[in-house]
Amino acid sequence: MDFQLTEEHLMIQKAARDFAQTELLPGVIERDEHQKFPAEQIKKLGELGFLGMMVSPEYGGAGLDTISYVLAMEEISKIDASASVVMSVNNSLVCWGLETYGTEEQKRKYLVPLAKGEIIGAFLLSEPEAGSDATSQRTTAEDKGDHYLLNGTKNWITNGNSASVYLVMAQTHPEKGSKGINALIVEKNSPGVTVGAKENKLGIRGSDTHSIMFQDVVVPKENRIGEDGFGFKFAMKTLGGGRIGIASQALGIASGAYELAVKYSKERKAFGKEISQHQAIQFKLADMATRIEASRLLCLKAAWEKDQHLDYTLSGSMAKVFSSETAMWVTTEAVQVHGGYGYVKEYHVERLMRDAKITQIYEGTSEVQRIVISRSILA
Ligand code: CAA
Ligand code: FAD
Repeated sequence: MDFQLTEEHLMIQKAARDFAQTELLPGVIERDEHQKFPAEQIKKLGELGFLGMMVSPEYGGAGLDTISYVLAMEEISKIDASASVVMSVNNSLVCWGLETYGTEEQKRKYLVPLAKGEIIGAFLLSEPEAGSDATSQRTTAEDKGDHYLLNGTKNWITNGNSASVYLVMAQTHPEKGSKGINALIVEKNSPGVTVGAKENKLGIRGSDTHSIMFQDVVVPKENRIGEDGFGFKFAMKTLGGGRIGIASQALGIASGAYELAVKYSKERKAFGKEISQHQAIQFKLADMATRIEASRLLCLKAAWEKDQHLDYTLSGSMAKVFSSETAMWVTTEAVQVHGGYGYVKEYHVERLMRDAKITQIYEGTSEVQRIVISRSILA
């Protein structure tokens, strides 16, 4: 067993860290305050290859492994989780899904610009009445011979307005339940697609979350991913890797807050000494460091299993539930270490605490991860 990162891993980690410091840190508070999508920064992330990290160079990607992806996600998320969720959705849900299950034509037409970051994508599974209970899809894709007619509403869609390409799950054969669902590639500018208002959120306020409405949208048959009825399995398989991305996002949010707490504890004096000299603060920092290290190991283990083509469903869910709960706990303690200063925007930790919460909700709530884990260990 080798815990050493390779030279290449260290280089990618440093590149992501430098990018976060120079490109994302300036303006991160204002973007959060004004719910401003980090458009310029995402463009640059794309140019550097961070939006198609694991896609083969043949399709315009960087051809890196999942461990590199975890390392980059952690560094970007330390500074700006609104940017890292764009990166996570594009890499793990959209690009991975297309590269793994798409046809050659779909890859040439959609994956190449997505992997190069020329356009971004979105993943549309959730509906107002189908969140955790994702098999209850009400959006319909009626089979019309050479095309599908898409009708319905998706909600909470990350990149909803910025994406050019949507991967949409919709029900074609309701009598077949989850086996009747199809995954379709839908271009955002298709007639009949409407983008709803932007959600005003607690955290990741820079990311654009929208409802998307479909009314009689014509989707050519060649835009279906996989066989007829493969859509739900497609969504589950894709989310398996997505959960590693969100676990790494949570890891980054936690380690960002921890680094700020360590720094502040050495600067702030109370009762004649730095607060880092008080054992109550030292023990908080020790617990933060320990939980973060455990999260990192779970994320890297899941990534390694994915790279080895092993089944990573269980480890991905374990990484997600543990890292997201760690992020919530660590960020709350980081605010505590900062005292009153932690409660205002300039010190960053309150934003990280607000951003942490979503990691327990999207790509499967903590309860859903526990369902996946318990089913696996009891099987
Ligand atoms: N791989 C392959 N197939 C799978 C699978 C997996 N990981 N998980 C389930 N399936 C298959 C099952 O085998 C079953 O097929 P068969 O009937 O052939 O056996 C079928 O899918 C239905 O599965 P279940 O019976 O297990 O379905 P369920 O109704 O009990 O639900 C669930 C299972 C795990 C709760 C699932 O519905 C789920 O993951 N819900 C959460 C949805 C979610 O994560 N949404 C995220 C949206 S994207 C997002 O959030 C992005 C973002 O924020 C940035
Ligand atoms: P519900 O499913 O209604 O759950 C409510 C509560 O009940 C939760 O605590 C849940 O864990 C619990 N619960 C439900 N069922 C069970 C059960 N069987 N056992 C125990 N507890 C249970 N979706 C997309 O498709 N694409 C996106 O890009 C996307 N981005 C998002 C971005 C944001 C900011 C947000 C807030 C959501 C996003 N989502 C996206 C949706 C997200 O995946 C769902 O919100 C999530 O899956 C939970 O679904 P729900 O909100 O309907 O909650």
